[in-house]
Amino acid sequence: MADVLVLHGPNLNLLGTREPEIYGSATLSDINAMLKKRAEEAGLGLDCLQSNHEGVLVDAIQQARGKYDYIIFNAAAFTHYSIAIRDAIAAVEIPVIEVHISNIHKREEFRHNSVLAPVAMGQICGLGVASYLAALEAIIFNLNSK
Ligand code: DQA
Repeated sequence: MADVLVLHGPNLNLLGTREPEIYGSATLSDINAMLKKRAEEAGLGLDCLQSNHEGVLVDAIQQARGKYDYIIFNAAAFTHYSIAIRDAIAAVEIPVIEVHISNIHKREEFRHNSVLAPVAMGQICGLGVASYLAALEAIIFNLNSK
């Protein structure tokens, strides 16, 4: 059985009440429940972790080695400047799908650049919470095509 780790970065614990015109009304628990349901249907293991702290996310990426086959990662604001998270992703060699609820390319200029994208398997953004689901579907598709 393949295992997927879903990581959520800073302020995503506030989803549901945080700028709903940008991020919608689903809470983090709604998103995690949706992903767990789809993973179960597909016969995958799936764990979720949210942290507002860069070091906790770096630790989680390091500890994912040998335990998880894929990481779905919304690094939130860290996306745009965390070289520590980028280096952790590069170090562990686990395929990471970068996701964003909003379309970061359509927003403020400081959100256009992702320092994680060059070490990620791919990036999905702008689909609302379906960005996470699209990432999981890509993983299921890849595993089934092996
Ligand atoms: C986000 C986009 C980031 O720019 C922002 O800092 C977030 C959320 C998104 O999911 O759209 O916190 O990653």
